[in-house]
Amino acid sequence: MTQSKLTTIFEQVFGISGRENELRLFYAPGRVNLIGEHTDYNGGHVLPCALSMGTYALTAPRTDGACRIFSLNAPEVEPITFLLADPWNGAETNWSRYPRAVLSILGERGLLPERGLDVLYYGNLPAGAGLSSSASIEVLTGYAFGAAGGPKIDLVELAKMCRAAENDLVGVKCGIMDQFVSSLGRRERAILLNCETLEHRYCKLALPQTTLVITNSNKPHSLAASSYNQRWRECETALAILRRKFEVSALCRISGYDFSLSADLIEDEVIRRRAKHVITENQRTLEASVLLELGDLKGFGQLMNASHVSMRDDFEISCREMDVLTRLAWSVDGVYGSRMTGGGFGGCTVSLVRDDALETFKRTVEQGYLSEIGYPPTFYVTETSDGVGRVQSLDLTSASDERNDD
Ligand code: GLA
Repeated sequence: MTQSKLTTIFEQVFGISGRENELRLFYAPGRVNLIGEHTDYNGGHVLPCALSMGTYALTAPRTDGACRIFSLNAPEVEPITFLLADPWNGAETNWSRYPRAVLSILGERGLLPERGLDVLYYGNLPAGAGLSSSASIEVLTGYAFGAAGGPKIDLVELAKMCRAAENDLVGVKCGIMDQFVSSLGRRERAILLNCETLEHRYCKLALPQTTLVITNSNKPHSLAASSYNQRWRECETALAILRRKFEVSALCRISGYDFSLSADLIEDEVIRRRAKHVITENQRTLEASVLLELGDLKGFGQLMNASHVSMRDDFEISCREMDVLTRLAWSVDGVYGSRMTGGGFGGCTVSLVRDDALETFKRTVEQGYLSEIGYPPTFYVTETSDGVGRVQSLDLTSASDERNDD
């Protein structure tokens, strides 16, 4: 996709020309989480980074308070139209529920411009791969509409509102990780985020002679599927039981040591394992952030592997495809670590691979996966990116304005 092609499509879809001077282009990244899975809605830590794959929006203002949105990644052939004053009314089960939910929350808080907007969305994240395409659409929408004449939105507030939109309107009990990193990510940095206080620190991704590889199992996952919300409920149950002994606001406020002494309080063995994953994963994440800053990739990789085992055996959000991908990756000399990333039940793995082992890694994983699963995986050697902002072109390496500065 090129920018001039996007502009041509904009004119075709919205049937207007002569508004070239008013067109603005925005970008919000997808994310990959290095470690810290299902800790965010349990008041714990996560360590994600923003990707140079994400969603773009080309926008032009309207004068009548209506909105027309169109996605190049969706099957609809006509733009979806609604009134900015009432965006959620009639929201279908299609992709438009993400932007419309965000606009609804922004509207409730008086943060929307009065004029409407025409928006053309284009994403280059693989769909259903667990790299947060929906969070990138949410954050992008909030930012683009805020930039179209509404009051300037603080990026932390933006992340919170997008999470609220997903929790309250879309109906997924997700934590804040995805929306936060899409809003506040930084190039060549991972964010260590405390999801309870939202305190965060940027950790330099110093990976000498090492590549971060995302491997797509090509088994789509669906977050809205009941399994994610079921894990959320199981964690609530574990917290309620442990609160009889600990005065804590969230599961991750309990240390691994305290949990090991009190795990028996939870009689149900499944609920006990859920709590164990969340609490130990939080500790692994904190430790991993230190090792990353020390440049100890070997130690970091071991924690990634332990994280996968915990997701597989205790939290039970892995699946055969993810387990095959990680097992094959672990067998390659020069792979520091590999784990499933994101909500689970499909999607992608993330692996830290020494450059001189990259080709062997790809060959081993591709051949092994093909013979065991029956179709090939896809590899992405992607770069990290800044969070949401206005960009000058689809080439993210070119100069950009309004994006995060160091
Ligand atoms: C999804 C959710 C996040 C987080 C991860 C698991 O990506 O949107 O909030 O819970 O799953 O770590």
